[in-house]
Amino acid sequence: GLPDRVTIWEVGPRDGLQNESEVVPVGTKLEFLDRLADAGGTVLEATSFVHPKWVPQLADAEELLAGLVKRPGVSYPVLVPNERGLERALRAGVEHVAIFASATETFAQRNLNRSLDEQFAMFDPVVSRAKAEGLAVRGYVSMCFGDPWEGAVPREQVVGVGKRLLDMGCDQLSLGDTIGVATPGQVTALLTGFDGVDRLAVHFHDTYGQALANTLAAMQSGVRTIDSSAGGLGGCPYAESATGNLATEDLVWMLDGLGVEHGVDLDKLADTSAWMAERLGRPSPSRVVRALRG
Ligand code: HMG
Ligand code: MG
Repeated sequence: GLPDRVTIWEVGPRDGLQNESEVVPVGTKLEFLDRLADAGGTVLEATSFVHPKWVPQLADAEELLAGLVKRPGVSYPVLVPNERGLERALRAGVEHVAIFASATETFAQRNLNRSLDEQFAMFDPVVSRAKAEGLAVRGYVSMCFGDPWEGAVPREQVVGVGKRLLDMGCDQLSLGDTIGVATPGQVTALLTGFDGVDRLAVHFHDTYGQALANTLAAMQSGVRTIDSSAGGLGGCPYAESATGNLATEDLVWMLDGLGVEHGVDLDKLADTSAWMAERLGRPSPSRVVRALRG
């Protein structure tokens, strides 16, 4: 069966924008966050406290947080790779953070400048300190199905990395198909590698058009937190061939059809994505946005 209700973890402001080459003005980012909250979003991944040279688009994280008027009932998680990032996030008053690990050696090197093993030494003090400060902590695992340099990724390798993050104290694990190559059978198989799905979330990119099918498979396995990006914005600057995330509108259309509750207003969301597409100067890749607003 399917869950009665799911939480949509909106990654548009972070994963969606991080790959945009033209820096989006901070005022536009703040309006985007406001509109997403108006549309009923309850988890809005706001930005990253990473090295500004690595992701110039998100170099304004401090300014963004300073200008953000937080809504009651809305959580604004941010990515932090290391203690320096956590320090910055704490000073900005953040209450929810996410570390991001790689399931593969090559992507750990390219995305974190660390080996697969070294990444845990970087994350461990971040998770301990964040928990001690009372923050909620998510752990991402990237390249859960395929890696552009290494090809297919063994399931045991992904489960091994994921379990280490949970053991470290992460409250939730988000399993990422960074380059969008997974198919539903692989999703089901990976999920069975964990002891239960209560703390698992899924994060699909739509490169091969499989994101929605993969999401349905994850929901059928009991997963109740789904990552998506308004208008299907996105991509990862450190992963070749990563295109946009599953579009939130496409997800909402499916959930509405299935009668699964989520709390998002599709009309307001599609307006937001059409507005953002105008700011970015190209049409939204979301099929549902194009069907409704094209
Ligand atoms: P590094 O160069 O190895 O860092 O980068 P370091 O620890 O050697 O420090 C070098 C200098 O950087 C030092 O300054 C640090 O203070 C500074 P110096 O002493 O030389 O003056 N520094 C920082 N400054 C500001 N904020 C920080 C920070 N850290 C160090 N946080 C690092 C290592 C991890 C920082 C770097 O590799 C990095 O920033 N990587 C981020 C890459 C990224 O953001 N990728 C995209 C997100 S992941 C993703 O999109 C996948 C996901 O969506 C899931 C999926 O789809 O699978 C989550
Ligand atoms: Mg991603």
